[in-house]
Amino acid sequence: MEFKTIIEPFKIKSVESIKMSTESERVEFLKAAHFNTFLLKSDQVIIDFLTDSGTSAMSNEQWAGIMRGDESYAGAKSWERFYNAVHDLTGFEYILPTHQGRAGERILYGHLGGKGKVFISNTHFDTTRANIEFGGATAYDVQIDEAKYHDVYHPFKGNLDCIKLEKLIIEHGAENIGAVILTVTNNSGGGQPVSMQNAKDVAAVCKKYNVLFILDCCRIAENSYFIKHREKEYENHTYKQIAQEMFALTDGCVMSAKKDALVNMGGFIALKDEKIAEACTNLLIITEGFSTYGGLSGRDMEAIAIGLVEVFDKDYLYYRIKSTEYLGNKMREKGIPVMFPIGGHAVYIDSAKMYEHIPLNEYPGQALVCELYRIGGIRSVEVGSVMFGKYDENGELIPAAMELVRLAIPRRVYTQSHIDYVVEVFDELIKNKANVRGYKITKEPKLLRHFTAHFEQL
Ligand code: F0G
Repeated sequence: MEFKTIIEPFKIKSVESIKMSTESERVEFLKAAHFNTFLLKSDQVIIDFLTDSGTSAMSNEQWAGIMRGDESYAGAKSWERFYNAVHDLTGFEYILPTHQGRAGERILYGHLGGKGKVFISNTHFDTTRANIEFGGATAYDVQIDEAKYHDVYHPFKGNLDCIKLEKLIIEHGAENIGAVILTVTNNSGGGQPVSMQNAKDVAAVCKKYNVLFILDCCRIAENSYFIKHREKEYENHTYKQIAQEMFALTDGCVMSAKKDALVNMGGFIALKDEKIAEACTNLLIITEGFSTYGGLSGRDMEAIAIGLVEVFDKDYLYYRIKSTEYLGNKMREKGIPVMFPIGGHAVYIDSAKMYEHIPLNEYPGQALVCELYRIGGIRSVEVGSVMFGKYDENGELIPAAMELVRLAIPRRVYTQSHIDYVVEVFDELIKNKANVRGYKITKEPKLLRHFTAHFEQL
């Protein structure tokens, strides 16, 4: 018998209070934050869905590990435990600890990239693309076509299009490809999973042209859940075996441990090739730290080592994926245009569909982000023209490809009643849909404007 209620497979030992607020207070908070939810204080937020990164609740075992942390500069016991955990999961011999994902990206893609080099991915995450482009190389995204349609079902919408991949390799010459990067799950593409078959196909293309194959594996456990339940031949594998099989197809990985390692800070690079590892270790020592701690404290390495085991627990993964799906499906039932099927770590809303009366240059995504906060104190993030929009020579907005709003769910933090509350907020949001107005930007920096821009309601 399977019950309807998804109970959290943990008891709560320590709590962090949430400060409640009224709608009129939130209207004032929003004004003071210039209608940019990045500028709110966290205690002005009731449910924080800004990101799933670094926001996990650690377990009692992880906190115990924190106390065990060996802070020796070289050869610490914590390094050994960290190395063994990462090695056991990934199979790679060379492991470089970094303070978070993007530090690993800068080191690895800085080494592999440079002017004239090309990187190809299902979708490069923003920081991945930024690190590649900063070094002078070019980044191409080649997702399967199904990914473009928000409401079309495909079990693995995160898949990389291997035909486009091969074309790009031929066009640019295999010797100019820095790496092929498979992002699992595909965060910028809606948190959608990548199938094992797709990873095998990508590996085959990379092998044919002798091109390096790297996994951006920060949500590998969530991806493994989807493979077990959607790819027939993996139904009897454990989640960890599935992840191990995927790592075995690649030449290395970069991980932001702030996601599926269930910690608040950390990351690593893991590699098969000794020469690349040596070059990266030299860069690691310059800016992160000595090779047996890199960018991490001993206690951080302990917490990551434990988190990497806990995240593959079947009860945890069931709860994680089912509760994200629960929220997404409830919203979909109410007619909210969500990316479908629901991804692993977040629910994405097509705000241009939601507010068809708001033109793209009045930022329907920002309007939705502000509405969610005003009505329910829910903090989300715009992933549309505020984040990715550019201006043409006349100062007109060139909109982003999609006007998404992401509700990213922190791991092990909220219970089903929090989620039910969010669902209820959407009822109010729908009632007020026609009255919602767009926004104009009154102040913006040159780069990464979404973090600090000021808005005014039209
Ligand atoms: N790769 C992916 C797929 C990511 O989602 C992120 C971070 C990174 C790399 C970079 O890792 O933050 O540790 O430096 N994503 C966060 C988010 C910021 O909100 O989705 P980092």
